[in-house]
Amino acid sequence: MARETVIVIDFGGQYNQLVARRVRECNVYCEIYSYRTPLDKILAMNPKGIILTGGPNSVYEEGAATCGKELFETGIPVLGLCYGAQLMSHVLGGEVKRAENREYGKTETFFDTTSPLFKDLPDKNIVWMSHFDYISKLAPGFTSVAHTASTPVAAAQNVDKKLYAIQFHPEVLHTENGTKMLYNFVRNICGCAGDWKMDSFVETAIADIRAKVGNGKVLCALSGGVDSSVAAVLLSKAVGKQLTCVFVDHGLLRKNEGDEVEAVFGPDGPYELNFIRVNAKDRYYSKLAGVAEPEKKRKIIGEEFIRVFEEEAKKIGSVDYLVQGTIYPDVVESGLGGESAVIKSHHNVGGLPEHVDFKEIIEPLRDLFKDEVRKAGLELGIPEYLVYRQPFPGPGLGIRIIGEVTADKVRIVQDADAIYREEVGKAIDEYKAKNGGAEPKWMPNQYFAALTNMRSVGVMGDERTYDYAVALRAVNTIDFMTAEAANIPWEVLQTVMSRIINEVRGVNRVFYDLTSKPPGTIEME
Ligand code: XMP
Repeated sequence: MARETVIVIDFGGQYNQLVARRVRECNVYCEIYSYRTPLDKILAMNPKGIILTGGPNSVYEEGAATCGKELFETGIPVLGLCYGAQLMSHVLGGEVKRAENREYGKTETFFDTTSPLFKDLPDKNIVWMSHFDYISKLAPGFTSVAHTASTPVAAAQNVDKKLYAIQFHPEVLHTENGTKMLYNFVRNICGCAGDWKMDSFVETAIADIRAKVGNGKVLCALSGGVDSSVAAVLLSKAVGKQLTCVFVDHGLLRKNEGDEVEAVFGPDGPYELNFIRVNAKDRYYSKLAGVAEPEKKRKIIGEEFIRVFEEEAKKIGSVDYLVQGTIYPDVVESGLGGESAVIKSHHNVGGLPEHVDFKEIIEPLRDLFKDEVRKAGLELGIPEYLVYRQPFPGPGLGIRIIGEVTADKVRIVQDADAIYREEVGKAIDEYKAKNGGAEPKWMPNQYFAALTNMRSVGVMGDERTYDYAVALRAVNTIDFMTAEAANIPWEVLQTVMSRIINEVRGVNRVFYDLTSKPPGTIEME
């Protein structure tokens, strides 16, 4: 592998992807592999450094995720985090014990700043701790280089062997200077030059695509979401009119979204490609008429998408390549997961390959995290409002309308959602303007309006009303697997409420959804 790589070995920690993202923020390319991966496979990738993540186990537990001593004898620098730190000590002859009390949360920690890990750091700062077990005796050759009031070994090192252990979590934002510690490891200790940058990614990706595609024909399903938009622009820059993008407007998009996508990718936009917009709204609405069951709705929307796309693909005829907007978290999750239950049947473009006549799939974004996809998008000159678009589910508003979908309900939820997004966006901008660009603590990672299937009595201008209730959802989340309701300021919610009631015909009540995930999901269906 030509590019400098650090390997993150995953022991089942909840922050495994976060570790990799932080390393990449240090401009070092990084991949995640399960602890089950054989060492020779890891070494074959010629890593400049190895990081062991946290995990749910205790090193003494039967069946605990573990690793062999050889991992620490290759001469490649290794950094163990939390469970990874304990495992390193345990395997190398130290001692790990269970404390009576868990050390959890923000903890003041004292550092030996002569350690290469803590170079250029203050000698004390706050870190994020989350552990029961602790290193009670150092492995031979190690010294302690950080401590807290209750933990004598908050970090340890064996500089000669290039082995480092950190009991806390430098990857989470609660740890002050955490990224700097990881920077010290990957850039100084491992000696990575830091050449993983989005401008060079874009350049290399375009050259690679050109070399691969030659004169071939390429087909891409464009949803208007971030991933497929960035993939499409990358392809269009590489092969221009050899690319055809099919955009299926299922009539379940956010307000004005179909036209916005067309303005960017259509004939009047800045890119050279063949753009086909299929207005399939009526087909979808008639298929969905009378259907209230969520899974059934999802299936109909997913199947209809494949059908519409298939019809268009047939008109184009056989193509050489089909583009998929797979990103790195999809790759990691499909490689390691497989045990979690299907809560909802997610619809993306997963079903397409079976229905299109093509020779090979191209996945130009499969090495990137979402924030890197966004950076690549900006690098490619895609407008910011598209690049920073919120996640939007494949079945669109179909799963934000509880119960049967009708054209009128789509209009209600589109209008209410546009008001909600406008007002929250405004409040965020105002906060940033007042606070030197800092984001408010409550800033949601996703927020949208949904339409409940409930109608209730109200009064408006002396008249009795019997109208729908709109539900507002806003969540703070790192990975969309768990989420908390965002603490949006009351005044903002009130403005949204009164604007929706006044401006959106058919609504007389507005709810704010306080449910976290679990037990709720982010979407309503
Ligand atoms: P849930 O509702 O499962 O949502 O808590 C988690 C995240 O996934 C998005 N979502 C989807 N995305 N196809 C998608 O591409 C889908 O079918 C789908 N369902 C939910 C949701 O918006 C949230 O960001």
